[in-house]
Amino acid sequence: MRQILVAGNWKLNGSLDSVKQLVSGILGGVDDTGNTAIAVCPPFVYIPLVSNLLVGSKVKLGSQDVSDQESGAFTGEISGPMLKDFSCSYAIVGHSERRALYAENDEFTARKFAAARSCGLIPILCVGETLEEREAGITEQVVARQLDAVIELEGIAAIGDAVLAYEPVWAIGTGKTATPQQAQDVHAFIRGKLAGLDQAVADKVQILYGGSVKGSNAAELFAMSDIDGGLIGGASLQADDFLAICMAGN
Ligand code: PGA
Repeated sequence: MRQILVAGNWKLNGSLDSVKQLVSGILGGVDDTGNTAIAVCPPFVYIPLVSNLLVGSKVKLGSQDVSDQESGAFTGEISGPMLKDFSCSYAIVGHSERRALYAENDEFTARKFAAARSCGLIPILCVGETLEEREAGITEQVVARQLDAVIELEGIAAIGDAVLAYEPVWAIGTGKTATPQQAQDVHAFIRGKLAGLDQAVADKVQILYGGSVKGSNAAELFAMSDIDGGLIGGASLQADDFLAICMAGN
């Protein structure tokens, strides 16, 4: 049995006060979340603060992005080793907002995945199709292409040490969740594709669903056989909403 993981992606939200409040709210309810693994991914500048607040709790820390470079003349970048200095466990790579708004392509995303891994961060690799791609019937091709860029650079075994997140772009922040069956179909496709390369990797890797997950729909999504948790945007910004999703993992 793969453990359910619920990861909160706070995106470009928060202030010193709201971050403290959110973390304290999450920590206040974490004892009721059973076996669900939990992570939060704050904006970079709040990582040191959140890292301190999480000491001694089961909630892990992640970043929303990571540089493909380790150090040097790369103005504005944050490297994997810097994130490790503040006890980050995870780094999201290839989120659709990075791909669409900041022109990060498959190869660049693969290099970020490699950079995260090389310093011991667990990449959370996001894949997913746009509405146009779904309507054109090429969802599987798009997701396969996004995965292949990483497998070509890092090898199939690397996927076994990572987390995948299937996030249909049309479901992100829109309130339009994929139905559990729509999500399951793509998750099963991903696992089947991996199984064709390495069965053990396919059995092991957690594949999260992301896109308008809420307390009210999380349980039916997480009940699907190939859905191993969620990457949560909007609903991760309120402690009660986020905790309700974490509890749905039980
Ligand atoms: P959402 O975002 O839950 O607000 O749809 C999910 C994500 O972008 O990771």
